[in-house]
Amino acid sequence: MSDTPKKLFIKTYGCQMNVYDSERMAEALGAEGYVTTETAEEADMVLLNTCHIREKAAEKVYSDLGRLRPLKQAKPDLKIGVAGCVAQAEGEEIIRRMPMVDLVVGPQAYHRLPDLIRAKGRAVDTEFPAEDKFDHLPERKAMRGPSAFLTVQEGCDKFCAFCVVPYTRGAEVSRPVDRILREARDLVSRGVREITLLGQNVNAYHGEGEGGTWGLGRLIRALAEIDGLARIRYTTSHPNDMDDDLIAAHGDVPALMPYLHLPVQSGSDRILKAMNRKHTAESYLRLIDRIRAARPDILLTSDFIVGFPGETDRDFEDTMDLIRAVGFGAAFSFKYSARPGTPAAERAPVDSQVADDRLQALQALITEQQRRVQAAMVGREVGVLYEKAGRLPGQMVGKSDHLHAVHVEDTAGRVGELVRVRISASAPNSLAGQRLS
Ligand code: SAH
Ligand code: SF4
Ligand code: F3S
Repeated sequence: MSDTPKKLFIKTYGCQMNVYDSERMAEALGAEGYVTTETAEEADMVLLNTCHIREKAAEKVYSDLGRLRPLKQAKPDLKIGVAGCVAQAEGEEIIRRMPMVDLVVGPQAYHRLPDLIRAKGRAVDTEFPAEDKFDHLPERKAMRGPSAFLTVQEGCDKFCAFCVVPYTRGAEVSRPVDRILREARDLVSRGVREITLLGQNVNAYHGEGEGGTWGLGRLIRALAEIDGLARIRYTTSHPNDMDDDLIAAHGDVPALMPYLHLPVQSGSDRILKAMNRKHTAESYLRLIDRIRAARPDILLTSDFIVGFPGETDRDFEDTMDLIRAVGFGAAFSFKYSARPGTPAAERAPVDSQVADDRLQALQALITEQQRRVQAAMVGREVGVLYEKAGRLPGQMVGKSDHLHAVHVEDTAGRVGELVRVRISASAPNSLAGQRLS
C-alpha cells in the first residue's frame, strides 16, 4: 500500500472569504490524504477558487485554465477543479468550454468535495443545499499564524444593482453563536491572537445564541472574553446595518480594533439610488459622525465604483466631496464592470475613457488622504502584532491597531508577539517604528 500523500495546489482569487474557504477546502481534502503544495507543476490536484465580482477577475480563470492545459496533457491523472463564485455563476459553461476541468463546486457545496473527487467522470455541484456546510467540514487542525479569518455570516440580500454576490453566494445566513465561539477558542488555542470576522454583510449578523438572536455587537463582546484573543476585526459591512450596539462596541470593547471598512460606493444620492444602496451621502456622513463619537481615533476605509451607468461629472464631484469630508485611511476603487444578470448591466455605460480619468482622479485623492493619515501616526504609540521577520536583520513586520503595516527595529521579536511601538516614519504603504520596552 502506498502512503505517499497526494499533492493539492489551491489558487485563490477575490475576497478574504475565498481565502478562508480555501483553508477549509484544504482541510477537507487533507482528510482525504491531500497535502498542500506551492506549485501547480507538482500537484495531483489543482483547485482554482475563483471570483466573479468584475469581468477581469472572472476572465482570469479561463486564461489560467488555458495555462494548465499542457500540465493536464502531460499528466492525465491530474485533477482540475473550479470552486468559488465563477463556479457558481458559470458552472455549466465551464464544463462545456473546458473539457480539462474535472469538477466544479459552488461556495455552498464545499463539504461535498470529497464525494465529488470520488465521483466517476466529471462532476458539478452548484446547489445551495439545506444542510450547513460548516457542520460537515472537518475541524480546523492546522497550526496557525497569529492572525486568522473566521466566517460568521455569508451571502447577501441587498441586491445592489451592480453586484453578483447575492447570486453567487446566495441569501444571507448567519452561523450560530456557539459554533463561532468554539471555532474562535480553537483558533486561539493554536496560537491565533487576532481574528477577523468575515461576511459579505458581516454587520447584518443575526445568529442564534443564548436567549435568542444575537447581533454582531453582542457576538464581538462574547469573543472579547476569550483569554488570549487580543484583537478582533470584522469585514465587510453595509452602512445600513451599523446598529447602536455595534457602534457602542467600538467605544467600549478594547479588543475591537480602531479600524472599519465601510463601503459607500458613491457620494451622489442620484447614483446611490440607481445602485439600490438604500442610503444617502448625508446618512453615511452622519453615521461616520456617530462612529467617530464612539471611537475618535478610528481609521475608516471604503470601496468606490466610478463610471456607474448614468454617472455625470457632477455625480462624480459629489463622490470626491464625500471623500474630502470623511478623510479615509485607504480605499479600494473600481471602474464599473457590467455583470451579466445584474440590473445595472442593462443600462447605457459611461464612456470608458471618462471612467478611467475619474478613477485616476479619485485614486490620487485617496492616496493623498492615506499619506496624511499615515503621517499623523508619526510620533504616536501603537500596538503591533508581529506577523513575520522583516527583510533586514533585526527587523520584525506586523500590523498596527489601525491595520497599517509596520516595520519595527527589534532584534528579540517573535512572530505572534503583540508589542508597543513608537512610530517614527511613514513610507507610501507602511510605517516604521521602534519597540518600546
Ligand atoms: N459585500 C461588500 C462588497 C463585496 S464586493 C459590500 O457590500 O461592501 C467588493 C467591492 O467590489 C464592492 O464594494 C464594490 O465597490 C466592488 N464591486 C462590486 N461589483 C462591482 C462591479 N460590477 N463593478 C465594479 N466594482 C464592483
Ligand atoms: Fe454586493 Fe451590495 Fe451585497 Fe455588498 S451589499 S455584497 S455590494 S449586493
Ligand atoms: Fe469575488 Fe465571490 Fe468574494 S465574487 S469578491 S469571491 S464573494
